[in-house]
Amino acid sequence: MKNISVRLYELAKMVDFTPIVADIGTDHGYIPYLLLKENKCMIAIATDISEPSLKKGKSLLESEFTPFQYDCRVGDGLEVLEPMEANAVIIAGMGGILISEVLEKSKEKAMSMDYLILQPMQAEEELMDYLTKEDYQLMEVRLVKENKKIYPIFKMKPGISEEIISWESFKEDPLFTELCQHKIHVFEEIEEQIQKNSADKKGIEEIQQEKRKWEGYLV
Ligand SMILES: C[S@@+](CC[C@H](N)C(=O)[O-])C[C@H]1O[C@@H](n2cnc3c(N)ncnc32)[C@H](O)[C@@H]1O
Repeated sequence: MKNISVRLYELAKMVDFTPIVADIGTDHGYIPYLLLKENKCMIAIATDISEPSLKKGKSLLESEFTPFQYDCRVGDGLEVLEPMEANAVIIAGMGGILISEVLEKSKEKAMSMDYLILQPMQAEEELMDYLTKEDYQLMEVRLVKENKKIYPIFKMKPGISEEIISWESFKEDPLFTELCQHKIHVFEEIEEQIQKNSADKKGIEEIQQEKRKWEGYLV
Protein backbone atom coordinates (compact mmCIF):
# COMPACT_ATOMS: atom_id res chain seq x y z
CA MET A 1 0.00 0.00 0.00
CA LYS A 2 1.46 3.34 -1.01
CA ASN A 3 1.76 6.45 1.18
CA ILE A 4 2.53 4.54 4.35
CA SER A 5 5.74 5.93 5.78
CA VAL A 6 8.82 3.99 6.89
CA ARG A 7 8.19 5.47 10.34
CA LEU A 8 4.85 3.63 10.56
CA TYR A 9 6.20 0.36 9.11
CA GLU A 10 8.97 0.38 11.72
CA LEU A 11 6.48 1.22 14.44
CA ALA A 12 4.26 -1.71 13.42
CA LYS A 13 7.28 -4.04 13.69
CA MET A 14 7.54 -3.15 17.38
CA VAL A 15 4.04 -4.54 18.05
CA ASP A 16 4.03 -8.13 19.33
CA PHE A 17 0.88 -10.06 18.66
CA THR A 18 -1.64 -8.38 20.98
CA PRO A 19 -5.38 -9.20 21.01
CA ILE A 20 -6.73 -5.63 21.16
CA VAL A 21 -4.62 -2.61 20.22
CA ALA A 22 -5.83 1.00 20.34
CA ASP A 23 -4.33 3.58 18.02
CA ILE A 24 -4.92 7.04 19.49
CA GLY A 25 -4.88 9.84 16.91
CA THR A 26 -5.16 7.44 13.99
CA ASP A 27 -5.92 10.06 11.30
CA HIS A 28 -5.64 8.13 8.00
CA GLY A 29 -5.86 4.78 9.85
CA TYR A 30 -2.52 3.46 8.58
CA ILE A 31 -1.41 2.00 11.90
CA PRO A 32 -4.54 -0.18 12.44
CA TYR A 33 -4.38 -1.08 8.75
CA LEU A 34 -0.80 -2.36 9.07
CA LEU A 35 -1.50 -4.21 12.32
CA LEU A 36 -4.54 -6.02 10.91
CA LYS A 37 -2.84 -6.71 7.59
CA GLU A 38 0.14 -8.26 9.36
CA ASN A 39 -2.01 -10.17 11.87
CA LYS A 40 -0.47 -8.30 14.78
CA CYS A 41 -3.84 -7.99 16.51
CA MET A 42 -7.35 -9.43 16.40
CA ILE A 43 -9.12 -6.10 16.90
CA ALA A 44 -7.81 -2.61 16.26
CA ILE A 45 -9.52 0.36 17.91
CA ALA A 46 -8.90 3.46 15.82
CA THR A 47 -9.54 6.77 17.58
CA ASP A 48 -9.16 10.44 16.81
CA ILE A 49 -10.25 13.68 18.43
CA SER A 50 -11.20 14.97 14.98
CA GLU A 51 -14.22 13.50 13.24
CA PRO A 52 -12.97 14.34 9.70
CA SER A 53 -9.63 12.67 10.48
CA LEU A 54 -11.33 9.57 11.81
CA LYS A 55 -13.49 9.39 8.68
CA LYS A 56 -10.33 8.87 6.60
CA GLY A 57 -9.25 6.03 8.86
CA LYS A 58 -12.70 4.48 8.82
CA SER A 59 -12.96 4.44 5.04
CA LEU A 60 -9.55 2.78 4.74
CA LEU A 61 -10.41 0.12 7.33
CA GLU A 62 -13.85 -0.64 5.93
CA SER A 63 -12.39 -1.08 2.47
CA GLU A 64 -10.08 -3.85 3.70
CA PHE A 65 -11.47 -5.53 6.80
CA THR A 66 -14.68 -6.90 8.26
CA PRO A 67 -16.43 -4.76 10.90
CA PHE A 68 -15.64 -7.13 13.77
CA GLN A 69 -11.89 -6.52 13.21
CA TYR A 70 -11.91 -2.80 13.96
CA ASP A 71 -13.80 -0.09 15.83
CA CYS A 72 -13.58 3.64 15.11
CA ARG A 73 -14.20 6.16 17.89
CA VAL A 74 -14.11 9.95 18.05
CA GLY A 75 -12.76 11.40 21.27
CA ASP A 76 -9.93 12.68 23.38
CA GLY A 77 -7.02 10.35 24.09
CA LEU A 78 -7.68 7.21 26.10
CA GLU A 79 -11.03 8.57 27.32
CA VAL A 80 -12.79 6.67 24.53
CA LEU A 81 -11.52 3.33 25.86
CA GLU A 82 -13.25 1.28 28.56
CA PRO A 83 -11.02 0.30 31.50
CA MET A 84 -8.99 -2.85 30.63
CA GLU A 85 -10.50 -2.93 27.13
CA ALA A 86 -7.29 -2.65 25.09
CA ASN A 87 -4.10 -4.61 25.79
CA ALA A 88 -1.78 -2.08 24.22
CA VAL A 89 -1.91 1.48 23.01
CA ILE A 90 -0.11 3.39 20.27
CA ILE A 91 0.21 7.17 20.20
CA ALA A 92 2.20 8.39 17.22
CA GLY A 93 2.74 11.56 15.27
CA MET A 94 1.95 14.00 18.08
CA GLY A 95 4.20 16.22 20.17
CA GLY A 96 5.81 14.69 23.25
CA ILE A 97 4.05 17.09 25.59
CA LEU A 98 0.63 16.28 24.11
CA ILE A 99 1.39 12.55 24.45
CA SER A 100 2.29 12.97 28.12
CA GLU A 101 -0.89 15.01 28.70
CA VAL A 102 -2.98 12.25 27.07
CA LEU A 103 -1.35 9.66 29.37
CA GLU A 104 -1.70 11.87 32.45
CA LYS A 105 -5.45 12.43 31.82
CA SER A 106 -6.13 8.67 31.82
CA LYS A 107 -3.39 7.44 34.10
CA GLU A 108 -5.12 4.27 35.29
CA LYS A 109 -5.97 3.13 31.77
CA ALA A 110 -2.43 3.87 30.57
CA MET A 111 -0.93 1.95 33.49
CA SER A 112 -3.16 -1.07 32.78
CA MET A 113 -1.67 -1.63 29.29
CA ASP A 114 0.74 -4.49 28.59
CA TYR A 115 2.81 -1.94 26.72
CA LEU A 116 2.58 1.44 25.00
CA ILE A 117 4.26 2.51 21.78
CA LEU A 118 4.89 6.24 21.73
CA GLN A 119 6.30 8.20 18.83
CA PRO A 120 6.78 11.90 19.54
CA MET A 121 7.40 14.33 16.67
CA GLN A 122 9.18 16.74 19.00
CA ALA A 123 9.71 17.31 22.74
CA GLU A 124 10.93 13.72 23.08
CA GLU A 125 12.94 14.64 26.17
CA GLU A 126 9.94 16.13 27.96
CA LEU A 127 8.05 12.91 27.21
CA MET A 128 10.91 10.83 28.61
CA ASP A 129 11.02 12.95 31.76
CA TYR A 130 7.31 12.31 32.21
CA LEU A 131 7.67 8.56 31.62
CA THR A 132 10.58 8.37 34.07
CA LYS A 133 8.59 10.27 36.70
CA GLU A 134 5.66 7.89 36.22
CA ASP A 135 7.88 4.80 36.50
CA TYR A 136 7.51 3.44 32.99
CA GLN A 137 10.20 1.02 31.85
CA LEU A 138 11.84 1.28 28.49
CA MET A 139 11.40 -2.00 26.57
CA GLU A 140 12.72 -0.95 23.17
CA VAL A 141 13.64 2.15 21.25
CA ARG A 142 14.09 2.62 17.53
CA LEU A 143 15.40 5.65 15.73
CA VAL A 144 13.90 5.72 12.26
CA LYS A 145 15.22 7.87 9.46
CA GLU A 146 12.95 9.10 6.73
CA ASN A 147 13.37 12.10 4.40
CA LYS A 148 16.38 13.36 6.36
CA LYS A 149 14.41 13.36 9.61
CA ILE A 150 14.95 11.00 12.52
CA TYR A 151 12.01 9.82 14.55
CA PRO A 152 12.38 8.12 17.93
CA ILE A 153 9.85 5.38 18.74
CA PHE A 154 9.60 4.13 22.32
CA LYS A 155 8.05 0.90 23.51
CA MET A 156 7.26 1.33 27.20
CA LYS A 157 6.00 -0.93 29.96
CA PRO A 158 4.11 0.54 32.88
CA GLY A 159 5.55 -0.39 36.26
CA ILE A 160 8.32 0.29 38.69
CA SER A 161 11.69 0.87 37.13
CA GLU A 162 15.05 1.39 38.78
CA GLU A 163 16.41 2.90 35.61
CA ILE A 164 16.26 6.52 34.64
CA ILE A 165 15.23 6.69 31.01
CA SER A 166 17.69 8.94 29.29
CA TRP A 167 19.28 9.52 25.95
CA GLU A 168 22.36 7.76 27.29
CA SER A 169 20.53 4.48 26.53
CA PHE A 170 20.49 5.23 22.82
CA LYS A 171 24.04 6.44 22.35
CA GLU A 172 24.94 3.13 20.75
CA ASP A 173 22.45 3.67 17.93
CA PRO A 174 24.24 4.83 14.77
CA LEU A 175 21.47 7.36 14.12
CA PHE A 176 21.86 8.98 17.54
CA THR A 177 24.66 11.32 16.45
CA GLU A 178 22.64 12.34 13.42
CA LEU A 179 19.60 13.01 15.58
CA CYS A 180 21.66 15.29 17.86
CA GLN A 181 23.19 17.11 14.89
CA HIS A 182 19.77 17.61 13.37
CA LYS A 183 18.40 19.06 16.63
CA ILE A 184 21.41 21.38 17.00
CA HIS A 185 20.88 22.59 13.44
CA VAL A 186 17.17 23.26 14.11
CA PHE A 187 17.99 25.29 17.25
CA GLU A 188 20.70 27.22 15.38
CA GLU A 189 18.17 28.19 12.73
CA ILE A 190 15.62 29.30 15.33
CA GLU A 191 18.32 31.30 17.12
CA GLU A 192 19.28 33.01 13.87
CA GLN A 193 15.65 33.90 13.17
CA ILE A 194 15.18 35.38 16.64
CA GLN A 195 18.45 37.33 16.36
CA LYS A 196 17.28 38.80 13.05
CA ASN A 197 13.69 39.55 13.92
CA SER A 198 13.44 40.45 17.57
CA ALA A 199 15.25 41.50 20.67
CA ASP A 200 13.77 38.66 22.69
CA LYS A 201 16.83 37.92 24.81
CA LYS A 202 14.95 35.47 27.03
CA GLY A 203 13.82 33.46 24.00
CA ILE A 204 17.39 33.30 22.73
CA GLU A 205 18.70 32.07 26.06
CA GLU A 206 16.16 29.24 26.11
CA ILE A 207 17.06 28.21 22.56
CA GLN A 208 20.79 28.34 23.33
CA GLN A 209 20.21 26.21 26.42
CA GLU A 210 18.33 23.62 24.36
CA LYS A 211 21.11 23.62 21.76
CA ARG A 212 23.79 23.15 24.44
CA LYS A 213 21.86 20.20 25.84
CA TRP A 214 21.99 18.38 22.49
CA GLU A 215 25.64 19.36 22.03
CA GLY A 216 26.32 17.84 25.42
CA TYR A 217 25.05 14.43 24.23
CA LEU A 218 27.72 14.39 21.55
CA VAL A 219 30.61 14.82 23.95
C1 LIG B 1 -0.24 14.08 12.71
S1 LIG B 1 -1.57 13.01 12.98
C2 LIG B 1 -0.74 11.48 13.26
C3 LIG B 1 -1.42 10.34 12.57
C4 LIG B 1 -0.76 8.98 12.81
N1 LIG B 1 -0.91 8.57 14.20
C5 LIG B 1 0.69 8.99 12.41
O1 LIG B 1 1.55 8.82 13.28
O2 LIG B 1 0.98 9.17 11.22
C6 LIG B 1 -2.12 13.41 14.61
C7 LIG B 1 -3.56 13.02 14.84
O3 LIG B 1 -3.80 13.04 16.24
C8 LIG B 1 -5.10 13.55 16.46
N2 LIG B 1 -5.17 14.03 17.85
C9 LIG B 1 -4.62 15.15 18.36
N3 LIG B 1 -4.88 15.23 19.69
C10 LIG B 1 -5.60 14.13 20.02
C11 LIG B 1 -6.18 13.64 21.21
N4 LIG B 1 -6.07 14.30 22.36
N5 LIG B 1 -6.86 12.48 21.18
C12 LIG B 1 -7.00 11.79 20.01
N6 LIG B 1 -6.48 12.21 18.84
C13 LIG B 1 -5.79 13.37 18.84
C14 LIG B 1 -5.25 14.61 15.38
O4 LIG B 1 -6.60 14.92 15.12
C15 LIG B 1 -4.55 13.97 14.20
O5 LIG B 1 -5.43 13.24 13.38
